[in-house]
Order: sequence, then structure tokens, then C-alpha cells
Amino acid sequence: MSADYTVRPMLSAAEIATRVDALAVEINSYFEPTENLIVVGLLRGSFIFIADLVRRLSLPVEVDFIEAASYGSSTQSSRQVRILKDLHTTVEGLDVLLVEDIVDTGHTLSHVLRLLATRHPNRLEVCALLSKPSRREEEIDARWIGFEIPDEFVVGYGIDYAQRNRNMPYIGAVEFA
Ligand code: IMP
Ligand code: MG
Repeated sequence: MSADYTVRPMLSAAEIATRVDALAVEINSYFEPTENLIVVGLLRGSFIFIADLVRRLSLPVEVDFIEAASYGSSTQSSRQVRILKDLHTTVEGLDVLLVEDIVDTGHTLSHVLRLLATRHPNRLEVCALLSKPSRREEEIDARWIGFEIPDEFVVGYGIDYAQRNRNMPYIGAVEFA
């Protein structure tokens, strides 16, 4: 595969694994083991993170996925978000943990959170692997953030650039040639 960019390593597979361990410890102690927890992955970028995270949870969990797409210029604060694939599960009365790869402007997550809130979950919490706080346009109340990173375009560990690089085991910043 030829590419007109290189990837500069930012977070190693070992650093990610250590952080996911710590997040799982916090999540395990935060939720009651009531068998009402559903972990919802936001596709597609969260697929590796959620796979690693749920394997470290000692709580009984269900897993489901939702897929959203945003359109319009990323410089517009009123970006439209559309649901491409909805949940299978009815989340009313359940504890929902929404798992996201990266919070950038916050538009995608705030749209999905508003949608899920209309379905009356018992709890609705967010665990995002990465956050770029300097890019935020909408406030996001995420209880767990893996790493805060600078305003750089990153790939790997599920996160893509033009659908590539999701399979990299570490996270790196894209450097255009
Ligand atoms: P937001 O709606 O601006 O918060 O965008 C969130 C989505 O944009 C993330 O779930 C990613 O799919 C994508 N995104 C944001 N920053 C990056 C990046 O650095 N690399 C790859 N995708 C990104
Ligand atoms: Mg995403």
C-alpha cells in the first residue's frame, strides 16, 4: 500500500493497554453488578477499544453498537449528525456505557447522547479513549477519558484515516508528505 503520509508513534500498544487496565478498574467499581449494564460502541472507530475494554470488565455486560455519521464542514458548529445503524437493545432502565474512540469537536457524541437520553436509560456514561480538548465546540460530560492529546490527526487502534490504519496496534499522528 503506498501512502503520501507517514505515521509518527504517539501512544504505544503497551501504554494503551496499561491505560485500558486502569479504566476497567474504575468502571468495574463504578457500576453495581446488577446485570443491567450495556456497553455501547460507537462504530467504527471504537471496535478495538471496546473489545479490549469489555474483556477487562468483571461485571455482567451486554454489548451493542450504534453507528453515526456527521456531515458538513468540520468548521461549522451546527454540523448534522445522522444515525446509520441503531441499537438492537431497548435501553430503558439500563445502565449505558457509551464507548467512543475520540472526542474531537464533540458534535457526534452530544448528538448520540441526546438520542440515547430520550430512551430513558437509568444511567448514561461515556468512556472515550482519546480527547482533543482544544477542538471542543460542544461540551461533553465524559466520565472516563483515556488520554488527552493535542490537535493532531491520529490513526491506529481502531481509528482510521480514509478507512486505513485501523489495524495498527498503536496510535500515531499522521504526517503528510
Ligand atoms: P466530533 O464529532 O468532532 O467529536 O468527531 C468525532 C469523530 O471524528 C471521531 O469519532 C472520529 O471518528 C473522527 N475523528 C476526530 N478526530 C480524529 C482523528 O484524529 N483521527 C481519526 N478520526 C478522527
Ligand atoms: Mg468515530
